[in-house]
Amino acid sequence: MGDPLLFTALIENELERFLGERPMPENLRQACRYALLGGGKRLRPILTMHACVAAGGKAEDALVPAAALEMIHAFSLVHDDLPALDNDDLRRGRPTLHKHAGEAMALLAGDALLGLAFELMAQVRGEGSALLTAELAKAVNDMIAGQVYDALPEFAPGTPPAERLALIHQNKTGALLRCACRMGGLCGHADADTLARLTAYGETIGVLYQAVDDLLDATVSTEAMGKATGKDVGQGKLTFPGVHGVEGTRLEIKRMLAGAQDAVAPLGERGLALAALARMMAERKK
Ligand code: IPE
Ligand code: IPE
Ligand code: MG
Ligand code: MG
Ligand code: MG
Repeated sequence: MGDPLLFTALIENELERFLGERPMPENLRQACRYALLGGGKRLRPILTMHACVAAGGKAEDALVPAAALEMIHAFSLVHDDLPALDNDDLRRGRPTLHKHAGEAMALLAGDALLGLAFELMAQVRGEGSALLTAELAKAVNDMIAGQVYDALPEFAPGTPPAERLALIHQNKTGALLRCACRMGGLCGHADADTLARLTAYGETIGVLYQAVDDLLDATVSTEAMGKATGKDVGQGKLTFPGVHGVEGTRLEIKRMLAGAQDAVAPLGERGLALAALARMMAERKK
């Protein structure tokens, strides 16, 4: 199954390596380091490596795309926290990057992480490399679409709340998690059936993950989360508990967990780590 802690160390070493050797202004490097290397569960790259294993590959074969995806995730959080978006002061138990280094640097470091992710992708060799890059580029733009649905919504009149919620969650969080699983599958040379299963799994846990995030925002303390909670309601966000209620959200999370596990069950032993990760995502407390 592979040791998730070992994967975390490999991912962080790869991020350190790339950020350390790429020439750039020292203050920009420090800002990127702050956003990338100050904690974080590394869920997306861990998923990429486990999806690669589930497809029959070696986890290390997915390391570079996995690290690039984590750079995209870090960029998305830096910009998500800016005053113009969620206006948050705390992330991973520390000041957000714009509080630490100023708003101009946070904007530019976010931009840099986006570009750096694709520079890193350009280090992937082999025939599948263009497909992988396309997968990541599409996910970035879907994530941004999701942030627009979340922060600047203009839905067609009459779009029911559950449909609006689905558009927000499938894109703002779902896109990167789906991409994590598909890139892993591609790195492991998944056959069509396996890739379809990894995609279905990724789409389900993508929405599940944000449903849990919304539930934690509504039910858990800032101290426990390391980021401000109780904010979504105040900011008028459309959330899972807002649409389905707290109990309804818990039921939906259970239903999505079962769906994700069913999707990878036919992969047998190889899919066990993904099934366990889905449970961890559903049951996480921070
Ligand atoms: C936070 O993502 C933003 C969401 C999409 C809910 P994570 O919960 O993966 O954050 P880190 O990287 O572990 O801090
Ligand atoms: C974040 O959603 C999604 C992205 C960064 C793309 P949230 O705004 O709910 O994430 P948190 O709660 O700030 O981590
Ligand atoms: Mg947000
Ligand atoms: Mg936010
Ligand atoms: Mg949130």
